[in-house]
Amino acid sequence: MAYSTASHPVVDIHTHMYPPSYIKLLSSRTTVPYIHQPSTAGTDPRLIILASDDDASRPKSARGRPVDSTYSSFDEKRRFMTTHGITCSVISLANPWLDFLDPASALPTAQEINDDLERACAENNTSSAHAGIKLYAFGCLPLSASAKDIVSEIHRLKSLPHVKGVIMGTTGLGNGLDDPALDEIYAALASTSTLVFLHPHYGLPDSAFGGPEVIAKSGHVLPLALGFPLETTIAVSRMYLSGVFDRHPQVEFLLAHSGGTLPFLAGRIESCVAHEREFVANGGYKQGPQRSIWEVLHSNIYLDAVIYGQPGLKAAIEAAGSVDRVMFGTDHPFFPPLENEDEKWLSVESNKGAIDGCYPQDAEAKKKILGGNAVRVLGLEL
Ligand code: URA
Ligand code: ZN
Repeated sequence: MAYSTASHPVVDIHTHMYPPSYIKLLSSRTTVPYIHQPSTAGTDPRLIILASDDDASRPKSARGRPVDSTYSSFDEKRRFMTTHGITCSVISLANPWLDFLDPASALPTAQEINDDLERACAENNTSSAHAGIKLYAFGCLPLSASAKDIVSEIHRLKSLPHVKGVIMGTTGLGNGLDDPALDEIYAALASTSTLVFLHPHYGLPDSAFGGPEVIAKSGHVLPLALGFPLETTIAVSRMYLSGVFDRHPQVEFLLAHSGGTLPFLAGRIESCVAHEREFVANGGYKQGPQRSIWEVLHSNIYLDAVIYGQPGLKAAIEAAGSVDRVMFGTDHPFFPPLENEDEKWLSVESNKGAIDGCYPQDAEAKKKILGGNAVRVLGLEL
């Protein structure tokens, strides 16, 4: 296969896969998350992963979204990259990762998936057939296993040369990312300099959107456009308020979807903390955050550029404190064109357009967001 070569690296740090072993796992289930395999030949299976996907008023063949080979095939990933001039992808397992596994199977499943990702990246990067395309990965963690198993997998991932961090959701061990039980995990992530790609999955309760019937009228729009970013915003705000960044000043997160609404709301969070009587020094009941939200944004947080518009991207760059902390992504294979998947994807082009629009005259800034930052932060060898 021939690949286009760019004069500078274009790195996609937000690009998912469900490896075949994970597809098999979801296909063996009948409750969310699961894959429904239709009995009619030639019909794509359905991916039913969000609680709102499993709408009992519809046949299973119409629930969720179609899941085709773009979700699991490395050849499809490379084809998509070539179409969009992407020279390197840092692949991550898509939501809901391993959150739903029973404790006993979580560690072996994480190890199998992480080893599969490492092998696929190694094979790709040493194959002359794929010259011009590089693959790396974010590993997954067995978060339903014991803390000891989670920590051991964090350490083991450091021995896999193509794994450049981990992806995880916002529930942590089940009680959110401000759970004190996560301190051991954060300590391991910080001491191994493991970047955490934080990604939403659960959104908001259906009631926030008027209930399942209202949600169903516009499909995935409310859960994905609003539920996902607010979930991320709430998760990071809870971490911040509970002092995670004070106790673990070295921990580093890459936030999906440009940090949800965090760039827009950071000033409001800062102001509410400053005016909160619970946190008043010498007389307040609780220890408030010791560092300002801006300092945390500038030293513990990177943002992706998956926000599809200039105002959001500008806010992300401003909140991150520098163009050096924002990185291009696509969210492939989600948001494909509804008609012809061989064409350039609107979802990718609108993210690229926002980068161009923010820096019409500054080629260096564009190159940083498109790939330079990812190469530096993740230590990618291209
Ligand atoms: N929908 C999902 O379920 N996950 C994504 O990452 C994007 C869209
Ligand atoms: Zn995503």
